[in-house]
Amino acid sequence: MKSSKTNITKVTTQVLREMKVHGEKIAMLTAYDYSTAKIVDQANIDVILVGDSAANVIAGHPTTLPITLDQMIYHGQSVVRAVKRALVVVDLPFGSYQGNSKEALCSAIRVMKETGADAVKLEGGEEIVESVQRILSAGIPVMGHLGLTPQSINKFGTYVVRATEKTEADKLLKDALLLQKIGCFGLVLEKIPAKLTAKVVKSLDIPVIGIGAGAAADGQVLVFHDMMGITQDFSPRFLRRYTNLNDVIGNVVRRYIDDVKTQDFPNNKEQY
Ligand code: KIV
Repeated sequence: MKSSKTNITKVTTQVLREMKVHGEKIAMLTAYDYSTAKIVDQANIDVILVGDSAANVIAGHPTTLPITLDQMIYHGQSVVRAVKRALVVVDLPFGSYQGNSKEALCSAIRVMKETGADAVKLEGGEEIVESVQRILSAGIPVMGHLGLTPQSINKFGTYVVRATEKTEADKLLKDALLLQKIGCFGLVLEKIPAKLTAKVVKSLDIPVIGIGAGAAADGQVLVFHDMMGITQDFSPRFLRRYTNLNDVIGNVVRRYIDDVKTQDFPNNKEQY
């Protein structure tokens, strides 16, 4: 790392580009609500992703497909209210951009107007290129997402590592180059072999953020609830659990219940 962007007051897409040039890794985390976003931003995270993984970790759905544009906007608004420094990217949800570029533009405009976020993220390559181009033509920064794209889980049928075969790996590299060419400012690569990530990173000037995509990526992203150990039923090899908030919160709740039952809470100082 040759320079550090920790002192800057607002992360922009240009700042991320400079970080790639200078070899400074980009740290990105998801957030879906005001209080969490405030903590994450004050800790100096570079990018906050209002991910459609909210469908999983907030709403409890088995896939990301059910979350709606209105729900993503609600999460985006809550996050943006808290954030001063990080670049905020909001996922366009399943069904709000595929197959109809006019609808894609309307969805992206709603996100930008109603949340105040800095950018949107869309899953896919060549198949969604018209939608991406139309959104970019309105001056909206777009981040791509290739590899394991959870909105296509019904096509894949499984959450295993993607692009292990040459044909899929070649298509991924081609899609990455295409997304860069049409103007995406960055790219997420999910659950692909580390060697392929290294090849993509070398081939692109825009920053590549990995999740389960190895160390060569220009940055890393994790889902907040997974890395904090709030979720327990999701343990892929790439996930580093930094703490076990599930235990911490459970223990505090048990102490509180005990204090209420034993009439220890509230004490004399805790009432009027
Ligand atoms: O929705 C999400 O959290 C994501 C990350 C896994 C990259 O897209």
